[in-house]
Amino acid sequence: MRSTPPAIAALLGAALVAATVWAQGRFPLPKLPPPDRYGTILMDRASTGAGVEPVVFAHWRHRARYSCRVCHFELEFALKTGATGITEEDNRHGMYCGACHDGTTAFAVTANDNCPRCHTGKIRSGKKAFRRFARNLPTAPYGNHIDWVAAEKILKPRYALYTREKPIQFDKKLVLQAEWFGIPPAVFPHGVHERFLDCGNCHPDIFNIKKKTTKHFEMRYILQGRFCGVCHLTVAFPLDDCQRCHPAMHRRRGAQDHG
Ligand code: HEC
Ligand code: HEC
Ligand code: HEC
Ligand code: HEC
Ligand code: HEC
Ligand code: HEC
Repeated sequence: MRSTPPAIAALLGAALVAATVWAQGRFPLPKLPPPDRYGTILMDRASTGAGVEPVVFAHWRHRARYSCRVCHFELEFALKTGATGITEEDNRHGMYCGACHDGTTAFAVTANDNCPRCHTGKIRSGKKAFRRFARNLPTAPYGNHIDWVAAEKILKPRYALYTREKPIQFDKKLVLQAEWFGIPPAVFPHGVHERFLDCGNCHPDIFNIKKKTTKHFEMRYILQGRFCGVCHLTVAFPLDDCQRCHPAMHRRRGAQDHG
């Protein structure tokens, strides 16, 4: 086979860069909160209605100690704010927040003094505590500005609360070829995700268990919070970081602009 002549290679190269730049401008990314509030959510499915203040939950503080799997698999919190029907009674019986907030592992849900520690009403800046926490951790350009994959090796969050299970070794890395010309493929590393999640967090609800068979698996739906966007919009590093999923894309400008 003959190789591509240099002039054509250069043109193709320019077209690829142009396609990437065009694509980057095309997707309306949601505005990111400052790093200390990325992944901090306000829960108000039942609170206001029951006459108490809404609850603030900071992911960074909790994921430092526990894998996503602990809460989103073992404790059955939904991967969507407001989707889990949590009641005060559930908490008092050791479910949901009460699994840890029992007065031993963390402050108790049952003590009246503690109600306002969760029922805070609104998300306030946690800048100081966050800075202290993040100071010595590896950095990333978006989200919490923490490289959680590298940080996991330092923080060693608990993988399971109730069993001695360890992540399953399934290192299959999928190269997901994009359907558009000039867009380098997205890479999905099973190995990295297993350190945080259970197979059941993604299969079969979010993804089919056969490569390239998930319907409507496209960026515009990812941006609506489906597929990779279930996690990579609000808690795991955000979609702004094109290059981390599409390794051959150039880093977008303004990476350090937030917060
Ligand atoms: C560790 C955190 C935490 C603490 C401490 C806590 N709660 Fe809650 N509480 C929650 C969460 C989470 C919800 C569900 C929030 C929602 O979706 O509105 C909730 C919901 C509620 C609700 C509405 C649901 C229902 O059962 O009617 C009431 C009332 C409530 N809590 C009262 C209290 C009182 C009183 C205290 C103190 C004795 C307290 N909570 C302490 C986390 C906490
Ligand atoms: C200590 C418990 C805990 C841990 C650990 C945890 N989460 Fe959550 N997460 C929650 C709770 C509680 C909610 C809100 C659920 C609800 O309101 O129904 C939530 C909500 C979410 C949401 C929805 C956010 C939104 O904007 O709607 C996503 C996505 C999510 N978590 C991803 C993760 C990922 C990824 C990890 C691991 C890196 C993780 N969570 C670790 C407790 C946890
Ligand atoms: C798997 C265990 C676990 C679960 C489940 C859990 N927490 Fe916590 N939480 C902790 C631990 C441990 C700490 C103390 C963390 C530290 O040292 O900073 C903590 C700290 C906190 C704090 C104080 C730190 C801060 O951000 O100011 C709040 C508020 C809180 N949790 C809210 C909640 C709410 C609300 C829920 C349920 C929606 C919940 N937690 C579920 C383990 C848990
Ligand atoms: C964070 C989400 C996520 C988790 C967790 C996850 N997977 Fe997957 N898996 C995917 C995606 C995405 C695909 C590709 C789907 C597509 O292209 O339609 C996939 C595809 C697969 C495939 C098909 C591969 C092929 O070449 O056709 C197998 C087998 C699989 N996963 C097994 C597992 C097992 C076993 C676990 C747990 C150890 C697991 N997955 C955990 C997201 C996940
Ligand atoms: C259920 C939640 C979830 C889903 C769905 C998910 N991820 Fe992730 N992903 C994570 C978490 C958690 C991490 C750890 C890094 C972080 O939190 O920022 C991660 C890490 C990664 C990394 C590793 C980056 C590195 O530095 O090694 C890549 C690449 C990635 N995800 C791509 C994808 C792609 C592509 C999809 C969709 C096919 C996807 N993820 C779906 C939660 C998820
Ligand atoms: C969390 C991982 C992830 C991030 C971050 C990400 N993408 Fe994607 N992207 C994907 C996946 C997965 C596909 C679909 C691959 C397939 O078709 O199977 C895709 C496909 C695409 C496509 C092809 C058209 C389509 O809709 O399928 C374009 C264009 C694209 N991405 C651009 C971008 C740009 C620009 C950014 C940064 C703003 C970005 N992506 C960030 C995972 C990601």
